[in-house]
Amino acid sequence: MKKIVILDFGAHETQFVARRLRENAVYCEVLPCNIKIATLWQGLNNAAGIVLAHPLRGKNAPDFDKKILEIKLPFLTVYFDDKKRGGRNVVNLPDMHSKTAAAELTNFARKTCGITDRWTGKEILAACVAEAKEQVGKEGRIICALSGGVDSTVVAALLSKAVGSRLNCIFVDTGLIRLGDKEKVIKVAKKLKFNLKVIEAEDLFLTRLAGVEDPEQKRKIIGATFIDVFEKEAKQFKNAQFLAQGTIYPDIVESLSPKGHVIKSHHNVGGLPERMNLKLVEPVKFLFKDEVRVLGRELGLSDDIVNAHPCPGPALGVRQLGALTKRDLDTLREADLIVREELTKAGWYNKCWQAFAILLPIRSTGIKNAKRTFEKPVCVRVINSVDAMTADWTRLPYEILEKISSRITSEVPGVNRVVYDITPKPPATIEWE
Ligand code: XMP
Repeated sequence: MKKIVILDFGAHETQFVARRLRENAVYCEVLPCNIKIATLWQGLNNAAGIVLAHPLRGKNAPDFDKKILEIKLPFLTVYFDDKKRGGRNVVNLPDMHSKTAAAELTNFARKTCGITDRWTGKEILAACVAEAKEQVGKEGRIICALSGGVDSTVVAALLSKAVGSRLNCIFVDTGLIRLGDKEKVIKVAKKLKFNLKVIEAEDLFLTRLAGVEDPEQKRKIIGATFIDVFEKEAKQFKNAQFLAQGTIYPDIVESLSPKGHVIKSHHNVGGLPERMNLKLVEPVKFLFKDEVRVLGRELGLSDDIVNAHPCPGPALGVRQLGALTKRDLDTLREADLIVREELTKAGWYNKCWQAFAILLPIRSTGIKNAKRTFEKPVCVRVINSVDAMTADWTRLPYEILEKISSRITSEVPGVNRVVYDITPKPPATIEWE
């Protein structure tokens, strides 16, 4: 597949250049400008053209520009501010979300570089299967930690297609998962016929977490316990050589950026490959989230998996604030399901990036059945985002909020108040802990 190579000079917008091209079915890859020239040549293998993505006030790396001129490929220099600049093949594209930006970039790829290949469902599937097969060769078991989220489920379904019974999936019920998560994973495993082992580890997690209030400490305990449980189970498979993980392209682009944007590496199984001497397999690492979803559909996954909102690795462990108890987690599970159900019924679930409930560690006075109550509040958080680096709260119609509030307070024992979080990110984060 012919591609465009985007050279990243540290611009925050580089990811959006890649997004605009991929959305228009042009395959592209991002390379940081500070790589060795040999790596650059390798990256240019199969390239039909180059986009140089310059930040607002970044250094222009003139030597590098000269090198590019020596490479006999069409190129386009993109700046992201409004300043008019002269020069050959230069465009100013301050708004990377605009139609103009998409049109300029796609024209460059299709007309100037002559790319006719289309990066769509079938091509994505074929490329990912080929990549996976190459990575795992002809022998050795592949272990996959399946969370039920779209990335790990797509990875499992893809590997199952690529290597069949050499794949073993492990789902850990940490006691922190949402209602329906486990059933969803079991159903998809049955449908796609892959080996799945479900581990019940609720007691272990809740024992280790008992009384722990600090969010960072909770996260560390959850991560470490996950690794312990997973490692113990995975060791029982003979000849396990690989660990499959759902790393996606934004993680890669961010971690390579010459500007060194903050990296959010949240993977559940981080730390395992070294500990267990396993090789990492990341078959969707060149895909953006929406492409992972396209691939999921191509693999026959159902809409409830493909369109599922992201859920953090520690799941409800960071949404029940403060020290965790089974009772409060059950309360939160019920409230969370109501939020998702009502949004789905109203046709809003797929219009937002993430929607969930948080159980707050305080109590307030209320009245139920003409009696005083002193119970916990549930906070509802619904946000829109492009990349989770920034987010805004969703202006939901009042009727939906009203329905969510009345269902939670009447159906969920222990909750007498519902509040809606109207804070963007920044200054808040999406999750509360
Ligand atoms: P924050 O709360 O940092 O979250 O604004 C940004 C996005 O990342 C998700 N998130 C996580 N995902 N493991 C994950 O896989 C984690 O530990 C984790 N913490 C936050 C969050 O849900 C949001 O989509």
